[in-house]
Amino acid sequence: MRFFCSTCAILAVALGVTAVSTLREPTPLPDPTERSASPLPGAAVIPFFDVPTLFANAPYAANPTIIEAIRATLALYPLAIDGKNFNALGQLFASNAVANYSEPLNILTSLSTIQSVLQSSLAAVTTQHAFATQLIDVLSPTSAFSVTYYTATHFGRGPFLGLTVTAYGQYQDVWAKQSDASWKITHRNLVYMGPLIGNLTIFTFTE
Ligand SMILES: *[C@@H]1O[C@H](CO)[C@@H](O)[C@H](O)[C@H]1NC(C)=O
Ligand SMILES: *[C@@H]1O[C@H](CO)[C@@H](O)[C@H](O)[C@H]1NC(C)=O
Repeated sequence: MRFFCSTCAILAVALGVTAVSTLREPTPLPDPTERSASPLPGAAVIPFFDVPTLFANAPYAANPTIIEAIRATLALYPLAIDGKNFNALGQLFASNAVANYSEPLNILTSLSTIQSVLQSSLAAVTTQHAFATQLIDVLSPTSAFSVTYYTATHFGRGPFLGLTVTAYGQYQDVWAKQSDASWKITHRNLVYMGPLIGNLTIFTFTE
């Protein structure tokens, strides 16, 4: 029996799929010295226009083991924030990490500041952080960069139960391999991609 999947056909044309698929050779790890034109690895905010051109041609071929280690580490972020386990952020950020969380939190220097400021600024609410579009690029055996879209929903408590505020943005993270072989964020930019949507009075709740 044959069937025709029009969506599949359109996708195949769009992706340039040919009848004979060939396996692509893994691309060798890029030489970090060849990437010196990149705006990384500083802490500067990367304009949205430049983000799509920052990555190597075949980032997924670069080093799947490193990429998965970084992806798994980054997945701890929503778990730590939404679980209000701010100590757990130590598994994610280097102790001397610098994070630009944008207005009103601004620049947070060191892990302990990131932990205390996020804890107090989120005390009034509970949260759910969801990741979406993500690219992780290995720049060298000890450095990497990732961009991860997030949607963060903040749920009102007490008299504000049922009210929400949703934030849309991206994390621009610079990663460094640590002496214990773990990967941690040394620089983060939290860049909003739209206005906060919802009723901001939920942040005025105090116990
Ligand atoms: C922090 O990030 C915001 C964009 O979200 C940017 O406007 C600001 O210049 C950044 N601050 C520094 C010191 O880079
Ligand atoms: C936000 O919620 C509060 C508390 O329920 C309410 O009094 C206020 O009118 C709401 N503001 C908006 C803009 O909906």
